[in-house]
Parts: sequence; C-alpha cells; structure tokens
Amino acid sequence: MDTRQSEGKMLFLGLFKPVVGKTFILTLVIGISFGFSFAYILMSTTRSFEEFSFSPPRTENIYMDRHHHSDKEYNQVPDVREMGSHGHDELHHRGEDVEAKKLAKKVRVLCWIMTNPKNHETKAVHVKATWGARCNILLFMSSENDTSLPTVKLPVLEGRDYLWSKTKEAFTYLYKHYFQEADWFFKADDDTYAIVENLRYMLSTYNASDPLYFGCRFKPYVKQGYMSGGAGYVLSQEALKRFVEQGIPDKTKCRQDHGGAEDVEMGKCLENVGVKAMDTRDSLGRGRFFPFVPEHHLIPNHVDPSFWYWKFIYYPSELGMGCCSDTAISFHYVSPSQMHVLEYLIYHLRPYGISHNVMTSQLPELQADSTAGVVNVTEGASLSRRSEEERKTEKAKENSSKLGS
Ligand SMILES: *[C@@H]1O[C@H](CO)[C@@H](O)[C@H](O)[C@H]1NC(C)=O
Ligand SMILES: *[C@@H]1O[C@H](CO)[C@@H](O)[C@H](O)[C@H]1NC(C)=O
Ligand SMILES: *[C@@H]1O[C@H](CO)[C@@H](O)[C@H](O)[C@H]1NC(C)=O
Ligand SMILES: *[C@@H]1O[C@H](CO)[C@@H](O)[C@H](O)[C@H]1NC(C)=O
Repeated sequence: MDTRQSEGKMLFLGLFKPVVGKTFILTLVIGISFGFSFAYILMSTTRSFEEFSFSPPRTENIYMDRHHHSDKEYNQVPDVREMGSHGHDELHHRGEDVEAKKLAKKVRVLCWIMTNPKNHETKAVHVKATWGARCNILLFMSSENDTSLPTVKLPVLEGRDYLWSKTKEAFTYLYKHYFQEADWFFKADDDTYAIVENLRYMLSTYNASDPLYFGCRFKPYVKQGYMSGGAGYVLSQEALKRFVEQGIPDKTKCRQDHGGAEDVEMGKCLENVGVKAMDTRDSLGRGRFFPFVPEHHLIPNHVDPSFWYWKFIYYPSELGMGCCSDTAISFHYVSPSQMHVLEYLIYHLRPYGISHNVMTSQLPELQADSTAGVVNVTEGASLSRRSEEERKTEKAKENSSKLGS
C-alpha cells in the first residue's frame, strides 16, 4: 500500500516538477484572475448573466412580472400540445355555463389578437388554447400568413413603431369582413388574459349601436382619457364604424402615419369621432381591466408608489384586494405558463360546497324589471335538471292515469 502510494506521488511529482516553476505559477494566477474578471464584466453587462449565476435570486428578482415590453422575455414557454385539458362534462362543471352560453348569443364578442410572426408559436397558440376560444370569433392579426393559427396577414411592418398602423389595418379589416358578425370588437395582445364571460356581462347593459369604448382608462394625453393597449379595449359596432369611416381617412381626426403610441392615438382618434370612453369599474368601484398581472394590483406596495401607473390611472384605485372586481375582465403581461395557471384557477378549481351566485341587481337594466331578483347561476343549472325530473314524474303520472283509464 505505502510503497504504491509513494510511487504514485513520485510519478506525479516527476511529471510536474520540471514545469512548475515560480514564473509559471505567477502567469497562471494572473491569467486566471484576468480571465475571470473579464468574463464577469462581459457577462454582467449582458442580460443572460442571471442564468449563469449560482446564487439564489436577489430580492428584486422575487417579483418577476413584467412592466414593459422591453423587460426580460418569459423564459419558459410550455408546449401547447402537452397541456391536456379537463372534460366539459365533469361532475364539478356540468351545466354550469348555461347562463354564459345564453349571454354569448346575445352579446357577440369578436376578439382580435395583436401578434407577430415571432410569437405565433410561443404566445398566440396559448391564447387560442385558453381564453381566446371563448370569444364568438377569434382572429390573430399578424404580418405573415400562418395557416395553423390561422392569422390574418395585414400589409404592415412589424415592431412597436408600427403598432398604430397595424391597429388601423386590423379594424379596417374587421369593418370590411366582420361588421355584422359581432356586436363588440375586443382588441388584446398575445400576452393579455381575458375572462370573456365577464366582458359580455359588463357589455350586456349597453347598446352596441351607441358610440362607446371600454378598457383600463388612463388620464393623460386625451381629454376624456384613453384605454391602455395591453389590458385590451373593446369598441361597439358604432365605434368601429366611426373609427374606420370618419376617423382613419381624416387627418384632422386621426394620425395618418404609422408612428405614435397605439393606445394614445386610438384614444385621440376615437374622441375626435365622438366615441365615449366608458367607466368599466363595477358597482363597488373595483376595476375590471388591468395593465399588469394580478399580483401587481392585488399586493400593496408590490410596485413603487412613484411608478408611472399611479399617475396614469383615471380612477383612484384601492391597494390590496379592494383593487379588483369579482367580475374582472383582463390582465396583461401574462406569460404563456401563467395563462394555463389562470385557466385552471378560474375555470376548473372549485372550492367544494360553495355555489356561485350572481346578483342581477348589478345590472341596471334588469334592475328596472320588478320581477328580477336574484339569478342563481348554479340554480339555473339545477333548475334544468330539476325540470327534467319534473317531466319524468309528469310522465309517470300520465302512465298511471293511462293505466287507470
Ligand atoms: C395564406 O395561406 C392560405 C393557405 O395556404 C392561402 O389560401 C391564402 O391565400 C394565404 N394568404 C396570403 C395573404 O398569402
Ligand atoms: C339600441 O339603439 C338603437 C339606436 O339608438 C335602437 O334602435 C335600438 O332599439 C337599441 N336597442 C336596444 C336593445 O335598446
Ligand atoms: C342558489 O341555489 C342553491 C342550490 O339550488 C341554493 O342552495 C342557494 O340557496 C341559492 N342561492 C340563492 C341566493 O338563491
Ligand atoms: C311510461 O310507460 C312507458 C311505456 O309504457 C315506459 O317506457 C316508461 O319508462 C314509463 N315511464 C315512467 C316514468 O314510468
């Protein structure tokens, strides 16, 4: 043992002794420290450094939600084909959408998604696989043809600088091809998540023949305010008509070139053609359209009080749970993964024993109807089941009366 070990040592030393000089060690140390410092500087100036970091995330990384389109891209994109789904007729969900289906026939919403070729496979497919499917009509506006989504190929250049021209082209396309197919025209981004049933619920008390538009209302730049682009906004039929017929062709009403912030230009243009910016808060004053992810709005001090958002919002917003309506409509900067999480939380997960009741007194028009009291959505479903039972007992009565006669 001993001899073999020392033999190995001898061999080791014998191999290295001739090259391990003082200069060599010095060169090695200087070389390593130089290389290390250089690599560190290089990597910390690039965004990808965090991926190489072995230390736990720093505190500012706890909140990964994005506040700007230039912020770090979502780093994990699920494969939509691996997502799977829940059945429509599962025990906890059977018959629950009776009311929603009824409303979908009365309040027809066309959704169009602002996307681009880079995002077809990574983001747009997730909109289609989740909330987008609940729109009466779903269209993806892009600059390239993609038969799988599919997309509408608009004659525009891509990039943030061209969003305004893309918006004009998109609405012009809708006006030409879909004007009679929907009552309301909802624009959203490919990282917006929307609860379409709540959008219809809010719109159900309005008349699409009036020039109206709805969204997350911001204060500056336009007298009546304008709607944040990312949270999505919805135009009535009449608003769409005015925008395309009176707004777009008239340089005194709407900006003619491609530049400017899309949502601000839209706000100015719509104001100039007499389209009214609406209040989308619920009866408790809570918001429904949100330009960020839910955490941003729900958690007090999640964002700095100096953040531009607080200066932009048209209506004062409560901090904490009071921010957000139970009939919220949209959130923005939602990553593809988060879309599937929201889908699960909103449409599948159910606390056992809690039924879902909606007061129609929230609907001003229905309130006028003295017979309207409480619409019991769960009851709506159980009513249809009950009436089936009633029909059975009626048949049984018929049978027995037949037998009797
Ligand atoms: C897009 O592709 C479809 C199917 O290949 C084709 O019918 C359609 O004409 C194409 N549209 C454009 C604008 O290229
Ligand atoms: C909506 O407004 C139009 C035009 O003002 C009117 O003709 C129509 O009856 C209204 N519809 C409803 C449901 O009130
Ligand atoms: C709603 O329906 C359920 C089940 O039928 C019932 O237990 C509940 O009391 C109803 N709620 C209201 C507010 O009527
Ligand atoms: C009524 O009678 C018909 C045929 O006589 C039978 O098929 C049916 O099951 C009966 N219905 C009930 C509810 O007893």
